[in-house]
Amino acid sequence: MKEGPDSNTGSGARETQAFPGGIKKLEAGALLPDWVVRLDRTAFGAAWKAPADHECLWLIPEVAFARWALIPAAGEAELLRIAVDPAYRGQSLGRVLLEACQRDLAAEGLIRLFLEVRTSNAAAIRLYGACGWQRCGLRSGYYPDGEDAVLFRHGRP
Ligand SMILES: CC(C)(COP(=O)(O)OP(=O)(O)OC[C@H]1O[C@@H](n2cnc3c(N)ncnc32)[C@H](O)[C@@H]1OP(=O)(O)O)[C@@H](O)C(=O)NCCC(=O)NCCS
Repeated sequence: MKEGPDSNTGSGARETQAFPGGIKKLEAGALLPDWVVRLDRTAFGAAWKAPADHECLWLIPEVAFARWALIPAAGEAELLRIAVDPAYRGQSLGRVLLEACQRDLAAEGLIRLFLEVRTSNAAAIRLYGACGWQRCGLRSGYYPDGEDAVLFRHGRP
């Protein structure tokens, strides 16, 4: 999970159907739907702006989002944020969404995935383990309040 500024600006909506079953991909430059901004604030306290050139989001509309930074030249991607509406947590939607992202990223050749998460975030740490992520490090005092971050990776080293 990354910390970030509270703004919502974008240029032109481009939303593409990425998966059957209602999961959608929101490309760089798209306006963030209002529900994403609300969920971002609910889950993290502050919403991020529209996805930058190297970013995209996968959505379960009205319910969940996962935001990624892509580094295609390196075959890598970083999970920046994932959130499920509190009313829908514990119903495997986080897992469904994250696994869908992983499949789609692999299809695009992005096979080395990274993330960091607060050491206290038991739900997220369990989710990552369930989706095949492995702990690969610790960043001491990474967050503004001094909490450590656990590093995870997924895919080939
Ligand atoms: C983390 C989060 C996305 C998980 O979404 P979710 O839809 O509730 O997760 P799932 O139902 O798919 O559960 C996936 C795994 O996590 C476990 N899990 C879910 N909630 C949990 C909790 N509160 N405590 C412990 N484990 C939990 C599930 O048991 C499951 O593991 P299992 O398959 O081994 O049983 C959700 O809790 C959330 O939005 N949290 C706030 C935002 C956040 O912290 N994001 C992560 C940092 S970017």
